Amino acid sequence: MTIPIKNREGIARMREACAVAATVLEQLKPLARPGITTQDLEEAGRDAIARLGARSACFGYQHGSKRYPAHTCISVNDEVVHGIPSFRRILREGDIVSLDVVVWYDGYIGDNACTVPVGAIPPPLEQLLRVTQESLGLGIRQATVGNRIGDISATIQQYVEAHGFSVVRDMVGHGVGVSMHEPPEIPNFGRKGTGDRIKPGMTFAIEPMVNLGGYKTKTLADGWTVVTADGSPSAHFEHTVLTTEKGPEILTLPRCPAGTPQIS
Ligand code: MF3
Ligand code: CO
Repeated sequence: MTIPIKNREGIARMREACAVAATVLEQLKPLARPGITTQDLEEAGRDAIARLGARSACFGYQHGSKRYPAHTCISVNDEVVHGIPSFRRILREGDIVSLDVVVWYDGYIGDNACTVPVGAIPPPLEQLLRVTQESLGLGIRQATVGNRIGDISATIQQYVEAHGFSVVRDMVGHGVGVSMHEPPEIPNFGRKGTGDRIKPGMTFAIEPMVNLGGYKTKTLADGWTVVTADGSPSAHFEHTVLTTEKGPEILTLPRCPAGTPQIS
């Protein structure tokens, strides 16, 4: 499958969709505190998406015969991704929670995620979050014109494994644009110099999922929630990135809120 190249118009719309996704994620982060439920986060995300005039790309997302039932994915501790929000799941001090926000805005998709601590967390979890976020940054830096997809994959894997963690194999990053998943697949493991060559105007969702223990995962009986096979905690950071002649550009960075004083 060929990788879609976005034109000026498509890129402009991707920018807007990604800004919305980033704004929603930014609003959710400070809410992840002890005592709140994952359903509280879902409702805040749902409402923020609506306020910004967007739609959740997760709600109703079809996988086989199932449809995803919520507007956000909220995954706690050993849950890797696609955790279904629940009013029974109460966050406690020391938990880590992964927030995944995918929006549809003016025909284009913005996709981003991050893992945040709930109150104070033990040093190994702090390191898990830091290394996963850093691996995303290093992967993004490889998304330069002339490189190959495997350069992103290998860079993430090497960094993560050098720190004694493991990268999930069962889910991968992806192209993103008019639909949530476009070519190419962007694994968080692989070999440098392999895969498709990167050209300007591609938009990628790069998303390392990193486990404290082994890389294996399984899906719970709800059909969605992916957990680590060994019960170890897992972190997830994701940005939507545009490739340009001048280098990769992260599209899912929050913009200054309206009303921010400007220096003239
Ligand atoms: N960021 C996730 C992905 O790229 C979002 C999945 S939404 C869901 O697959 F609908 F599948 F839950
Ligand atoms: Co994604």
